[in-house]
Parts: sequence; C-alpha cells; structure tokens
Amino acid sequence: MAESKNLWGGRFTEKTDAGFAEFNNSFSFDRRLFFADVHASIAHCGALFQAGVLTRLESERIKNGLNTILKRADYDKNYFDELPSEDIHSFIEARLVQLIGDAGRKLHTGRSRNDQVATAFRLWLREEIEEISKIARGLQRALLKTAENQKEAILPGYTHLQRAQPILWAHWCLAYFEMFSRDRERLDEVWRRVNVLPLGTAALAGTSFEIDREEVARELGFEGVSANSLDAVSDRDFAVEFVGACALIMVHLSRLAEDLIIYTSSEFGFIELADAVSTGSSIMPQKKNPDALELIRGKAGRVFGHQTALLTTLKGLPMAYNKDLQEDKEVVFDTVDTVKICLRVAAIVLKNLHVHEEKTRKAATTGYLNATELADYLVQKDVPFRLAHDTVGKIVMSAISQNKELDELDLSEMQKFSEHIEADVFEALSLEQTLASKNQIGGTAPERVFEALESAKESLEMEEN
Ligand code: ARG
Repeated sequence: MAESKNLWGGRFTEKTDAGFAEFNNSFSFDRRLFFADVHASIAHCGALFQAGVLTRLESERIKNGLNTILKRADYDKNYFDELPSEDIHSFIEARLVQLIGDAGRKLHTGRSRNDQVATAFRLWLREEIEEISKIARGLQRALLKTAENQKEAILPGYTHLQRAQPILWAHWCLAYFEMFSRDRERLDEVWRRVNVLPLGTAALAGTSFEIDREEVARELGFEGVSANSLDAVSDRDFAVEFVGACALIMVHLSRLAEDLIIYTSSEFGFIELADAVSTGSSIMPQKKNPDALELIRGKAGRVFGHQTALLTTLKGLPMAYNKDLQEDKEVVFDTVDTVKICLRVAAIVLKNLHVHEEKTRKAATTGYLNATELADYLVQKDVPFRLAHDTVGKIVMSAISQNKELDELDLSEMQKFSEHIEADVFEALSLEQTLASKNQIGGTAPERVFEALESAKESLEMEEN
C-alpha cells in the first residue's frame, strides 16, 4: 500500500521510526476534520489566487481537485484507509497531488498546519454545536410532551430527599426545560467565540503573502478574523469552553437520570419506564433495570474528565504551537459523541415513561407535606411566622404519635395548640389549595405551571419556524 509522503522530509536523512510514527500520527482520529479542512483549503486557494500566488488555471485545478476529493470520500468507503498518513492535512495534500500533480504542491503556500488545524477544528465544531443544540431542543420538546401527557399528575417535592411540599409533575419537567434552555444559550455563546478565523496566521508570526483574511472569513462564514497570530495558533480556550458547556449539559442530564432512577425504584414506585429503554437481569427474572438512565449518569464522568484533560494539556504550554495541542481532538470528539447520544436517549426515555398518578398523589398527601400550609394559615390569622412554625411542629409531633395526617386530626385537637385554628383550616390543608396557593411567578400552582408550559411551547415553536 502506498503511503503519503510526510510534509517535512527535506532536512531529514533517516526514516521515521515506525513505533514513533504510530505515536505521532493523528490520522486515525482527525479524519473527522476532513470536510472542514477541504472547505478551508478551497477558501485558502481562492485567497492565494487573489494574492497573485496562483494563476487562475492553477487555482481552478486545485479547487476542482479538492471538490473531486470531497466526492471520492463520499462514495469510496475505503478512501481514507488506502493511504496511511500522518494526519488529515497530509492526507488531503497527498490526495490532491495524486490527482492534479505538481500544482497541488502550491496549496500550502502562506499557511501552516498550525493555522490550518485551528481553522478546521473551529469549522467542524461550529457545525457540531448547532447539531447539539438541535438535539437538546428535541429533549426539551420531549420534556414538554411528557408534561402534557400527564398534566394533572402531582408529585411530592423533596429537599434533602425528604418529602417537602407537593408539586406538579409538569413543574418538575419544566425545571429541566429551563436548565436545557440555559445550556443552549451557553452553546450559542461558545459558538460566537468559535466562529473566528485563524487561517492566514500561518505557523505563528503571520504570513508574508497578501492573503485577504477577511475575505476568507466571509467565504467560510466566520464572523471575524483572529487579531493575533500567536494567539490564533496556540489557544484552545474555545474548546475548553465548549467542553465546559457540555459538562453542564451532562450535569443536568445526570440529575434528570438520577431523579428518574429513584422514582422508578419499588421504594418510590412513581414512574414506569418503557420496556424499550429498560433491561433485565440474567439471573433475577423479576428485574427491570433503568440502564439507559444509569449510562447517562455514568457518562457524565467522561465529559468532566475531558474538561480536566484539556485544561491540563493547555496550562503549561509555551508560546506558540506545540504538538501537545494534538491532544485537543479526541477529548472534544468524544465529548460531542457522548453529549449527543445522551441527549437523544434521554428524550426517548422521557417520551415513553408513565407516571403512576395515584401513587404519586398518595405520596404527596402523606408525610405532612402541608405543614407549611398550616403555618401560613396561622400567619394569616396574624400569628408571627416563627411562633406559627413552632406550633405546627408540635401539632405534627402529635399527629405522628397518632399515626394520622394533619387533615385527619379533629378540629378540637388542633385547637388545643392554637386558638386561632378554625373550621376553615381543612380547606387550607387540602392538596388542591396547597398547590393553588403557590401562585407567584415560578411557583407550582397549576395555573402558573400551565402558563409556563404554554410559553415554553411557544418559544420552541418560534425557534422552529
Ligand atoms: N495533527 C496536528 C494537530 O492536531 C496538526 C498540526 C501539526 N503542526 C505541526 N507543526 N506539527 O495539532
């Protein structure tokens, strides 16, 4: 099998050690930058023509050659494997020279792999960020759908994983909707900083050819050009920011997964996952395990690790490009793959789950989740909150000893603790009233939640149109 010639052989007399070559090469993974790198090369070729470096004929031959390469890669499954190369940049140049001969050797004028790789990486990442945001939007849609499916379902809300106050299931769904909205905003912000063109800064100092960088930027859809050549080829803060934004997506996904894992356990029995996203046990016939969710929770760790890896790779680098930077790719690639699959699977899980509404309602009305209501009731009768809190604490203790809920106590029993308690207390303690009273913006009153649901739906629809 032919091998692409390396790009730097002139001052060497000995052959590269095979073991070192394997260590040094990045072609096995950076081939993912193929389309981005070819497109950037086409733009660079145009700039070289404008700069008078290439004749019209040469630039046309190069462009045609690069377009042919794009097509070949599309239909020839072995295209990449037939020409072992150091990296994707060497591969493309070797393919070009194979196709059009010597003219292909002029393409690398005025550029270095240092600005080339930074450009391809940014181009590629730009598309991926858009894709991830779209998939996250799909998850948001799934959250709204599951909320709508069981709009009236009530859940006990928790703090410290102890029953606290009742909430609507839809309120829970909307909490995650908010998190993913912010995640998508973060992705947008990262996108803007990714969308800056390094090409034309060459190895580290800039180029002496009259390359119109701004024109190249326009052609490739970049919003601007990097202002400093050293910075352009050596920083990867955009990649760190991207992995950071993804780390937060994974935090949110992992929390969502953890909630659902708990709710599906027999101890809770709140939620049933579809068979389609569950697995069984090879030994215990009764088992139905939430593997999809556990994997999402587990994979969060990978992305956090990637962020640390990337930061550590960057922290001691002397100016400007160093080969350490080749380590930026695999962590970012794996981050992209991991986040995408987790977002997709989470949406599938959500769209197909069922809330056992009777059970959740029962749980929301057992365990004194309306104790705060009783305190608030006393406040309305002009009892200072601190005193009301203390009084209700004593009533709860008494109820616990009788194994009763608050609304199962007799009025006269409650009145022993406070003379302010009257017959209207039972209405205040009802589940409906407990929920309805949380009526400020952001609260779980059904009226508020249904409004929030509508505006969430509208915001997604607006984006989609
Ligand atoms: N594969 C390299 C990387 O990913 C490309 C840049 C190589 N540049 C160099 N001067 N050796 O960083």
